[in-house]
Amino acid sequence: MQKRSDIGLIGLAVMGENLVLNMESKGYQVSVFNRSSEKVDSFIKGRGKDKNILGTYSLSELVDSLERPRKVMMMIKAGAAVDATIDALLPLLEPGDVIIDGGNTHYPDTDRRVKRVEAKGVHYIGAGVSGGEEGALLGPSIMPGGSKVAWPLVKPIFQSIAAKVEDGSPCCDWVGEDGAGHFVKMVHNGIEYGDMQLITEAYHIMKDLLGLSADEMHEVFKEWNEQELDSYLIEITRDIMAFKDEDGEPLVEKILDKAGQKGTGKWTGITALDLGVPLTLIGEAVFSRCLSSIKDERVEASKVLSGPAPAFEGDKKEFIKAIKDALYASKIVSYAQGYALMRAAAEENNWNLNYGGIALMWRGGCIIRSGFLGKIKEAYDSQPGLTNLLLDPYFKEAIEKAQAGWRKVVATAVMNGIPTPAFATALSYFDGYRSEHLPANLLQAQRDYFGAHTYERVDKPRGEFFHTNWTGRGGDTASTTYNV
Ligand code: 6PG
Repeated sequence: MQKRSDIGLIGLAVMGENLVLNMESKGYQVSVFNRSSEKVDSFIKGRGKDKNILGTYSLSELVDSLERPRKVMMMIKAGAAVDATIDALLPLLEPGDVIIDGGNTHYPDTDRRVKRVEAKGVHYIGAGVSGGEEGALLGPSIMPGGSKVAWPLVKPIFQSIAAKVEDGSPCCDWVGEDGAGHFVKMVHNGIEYGDMQLITEAYHIMKDLLGLSADEMHEVFKEWNEQELDSYLIEITRDIMAFKDEDGEPLVEKILDKAGQKGTGKWTGITALDLGVPLTLIGEAVFSRCLSSIKDERVEASKVLSGPAPAFEGDKKEFIKAIKDALYASKIVSYAQGYALMRAAAEENNWNLNYGGIALMWRGGCIIRSGFLGKIKEAYDSQPGLTNLLLDPYFKEAIEKAQAGWRKVVATAVMNGIPTPAFATALSYFDGYRSEHLPANLLQAQRDYFGAHTYERVDKPRGEFFHTNWTGRGGDTASTTYNV
């Protein structure tokens, strides 16, 4: 009888196929199943030919082909298909087996599924997988969470296929209970939205204010990629700038300025609002995509509404350096906000998140991979309880150095009518976060004035609430002081 497989994978779209090939290349035998059997045949006869890969044509055949305890990984579209597949798998599995969801699932769905599957004695892991098709094949970043007892069962496979950093550490480790793995992947995606928005703002200023050509910007991004901004997203932007269409013109300039999105950035923003965390940069990144997508409306508005025509005076080289400072400082703020969100969620859900470990998981393999994440890892390794990344000595100094350039870029962009929502919101957050006093005293007065919502006083102990009869017409009855 043929040897049983180490793992089974459901869903042979590009990510699924590449993960199978990656696992097989590390010495694992993999059984595969896809809803349409033609896909199984074409994979087995094509990219999977002469490899230790077994094609199966039903879920029961897939399950029967696996070594016990069985590990079945779904690489299918997030949503109803995942529930349907779990329903079909559960009667075929035994207690102790493991179901893994490697898709971009919304983490509350994983929370729910962990409970449902565990109730049947089967383990459930929700694993965020990042790195696109190339990452899946050559080494993705993998963020698993859910049934912790199942981690030792999948750890050897996951850590062998994951990307490795310079010292050989895998970009994959246990994240936490419930949907913690998918939660961390969601925050990764939100940060990805933020990083991309920041790069597009730098591009916008260089193009429309400084009048740089795509070739010139290619050189700028090339240089930045060799300095502190070194990252996968800067690297691909460098290459995109140099890429020419068939007529020799830069392809990027022929692409319609209308951004798509699959929703993970939006989920991150909604979670931040739910938890009361100021995640302003990712929020702006999502809204910028929304603004870009109302292209036709913008075209009409551009005929009606006017503003300053961009005109640059000064030293371009110096200003390009200031743009880099703005990008770098804003990026620090974005990660500080993303980490603050993870801290709040960990507290809310009783997850024991390892923040240095998360930085390591993101250091390689994934879309936001960068040298910068190595510095974040160092920050959290030395201070696991760090309240905010901005308070870490390395990042405090970095932002201080970048600050003058950052302010100059935001101010110049405003004066020239170039939108830089992410640069500007990052700066406002920085200025707000470092302020002992904010004007919320007035806001509290307004709330108390119109709704008797009460306020605390600076000259009285915290927790004591006051109401004033501001007009002489209102009564002395105060409203309750609950906060949502
Ligand atoms: C990754 C990416 C990936 C994401 C796509 C599209 O980590 O490999 O984050 O998971 O889904 O890049 O995202 P949007 O369509 O929302 O831009």
